[in-house]
Formats: sequence, C-alpha cells, structure tokens
Amino acid sequence: MSQPITVKLLQDKKSRGEKFSVLTAYDASIARLCEKAGVDVILVGDSLGMVIQGHDTTVPVTMDDIIYHAKCVARATTHVVKMLDMPFMSFAYPSQAIDNAARLMQEGYAEVIKLESGAHQSELISDLSLNGVPVCAHLGLTPQTIHKLGSYGKRGKDSAEAKKILSDAEKLEKAGADLILLECVPAALAKQVTRSVSVPVIGIGAGRDVDAQVLVIYDILGASGYIPSFAKNFLTQADSIEGAIRLYVESVKNGSFPEA
Ligand code: KIV
Repeated sequence: MSQPITVKLLQDKKSRGEKFSVLTAYDASIARLCEKAGVDVILVGDSLGMVIQGHDTTVPVTMDDIIYHAKCVARATTHVVKMLDMPFMSFAYPSQAIDNAARLMQEGYAEVIKLESGAHQSELISDLSLNGVPVCAHLGLTPQTIHKLGSYGKRGKDSAEAKKILSDAEKLEKAGADLILLECVPAALAKQVTRSVSVPVIGIGAGRDVDAQVLVIYDILGASGYIPSFAKNFLTQADSIEGAIRLYVESVKNGSFPEA
C-alpha cells in the first residue's frame, strides 16, 4: 500500500472505468482490517445507530456518536478515505450545517462528509465545497426521513421520482458535490445517473452499473441478524473476517458483485 487514497484518485478511477469499494466501519479493529484488505473508502455511517446501538432507525444518532466512532477509525487507518455521515437534523439550516461539517473534519478527521440530500441543498453543498469540504450527496432512499417515507422500499420506481433523482444528481454535481451515493433505486436509473454525472457514483441496492459499491460491514459478515436482498454474506466463502472483506473488495473491483 503506497499512496494514500484521495477523493481525486477516486475521480481518476471513474475516468479509467475502474470500480472501487466502500464499506462501513465504526471501530479501530475493523477499520484496520478494511484498510489491509484494500477497501478504498471507509464510511462511518449513521447506520451505526441500528447495527451498533440497536435502534430501529438512524434518527437517534448524534454528532457526538459519529465523531466518537470516527476517531476510533482514524486512529487505526492511514491510507483509506474516511467519509463521515452528517446525522439527522445536523444540517437543517446553513450555519448549523457549516459548523457541524467543520466538527466532522476537525474532530472526526473526515475527508468527505455525506449528507442525505436533494436539489434543495444545492446552496449548502456549494458553500461547503467552496470552503474546502468534499461532499457526498446521498440520494434515492434516505433513511433519515423514514418517519415521512413510512418504509425502506426502493425509490425512483415511477418516472416522476426517477426524473427528480436524476436531475437532483446533476444539480448537486454542479453545486460542487464530489461524490453521489444512490441507495435503493432501480438499476436502470442508477446506470443513467452514473453516465450523466462526471463524479463517481456509489451504489447500494442500485445494481452493478455504478462506479462503486457500499455495504454495511455487519451485512457482509452475516452479523446483522438480517441481510438485505442487495447485500451478501461474504464470510461464508472466506475463513476470516479479513478474507471476507478482501473477497468483497475483489468482487466489486472485478464486477462479480453485485450480480445482474
Ligand atoms: O449509514 C450508512 O451506513 C449508509 C450506507 C448504508 C449507505 O448511509
């Protein structure tokens, strides 16, 4: 492992048509294994509210929770890109969003911050970007809005919603987003978004025609109690946690995960 991975390198990978892997991690031991196994980006996601803290949703997760886990991850890694989630209501108005993004970068060592977004956040993303904050705009299923949505089902199934997701991605790229994450959208829509924007698109439950995949670590280890249909337990084909992570990384890179 020679050169630290950067957001710029992820963009170069997209230009070369090289897929990259993203995995969540919330502690030093798993983060170390992720880096050793070749993961490109570690996401300290607010999924920690469900898989670590045992909540039913990600809504109770706080800024302090993300920063605590991000510090654990940062102590164990040197090369991987660290992406941190802005939790529920931590970016509801501009000055609060800027302060909290600064906290994630200065206290949590974020190299990218991710926020569940839409075109209404173009101005905020532009402000963050102009101030040197790399941003990943999370579109499609946005679990922080579960109490409005009512279910974790696929988004963008009808043409109006699909058009909005595509146009939001284009607007947020223009505003300065460095990465787009698409969660639970039809594969054809994810393919269209991936072709329409020049920044890398990371998918989860969004098919194979994207630039990168992200999964929750406990799903690939079969430890979440429930494996979503788009995920896979890689530990059944490996003899160690590191081996399972390595298999995930290789499968994303060579395009064998996810299957069509
Ligand atoms: O919080 C998280 O881990 C996420 C991924 C599931 C994309 O947002």
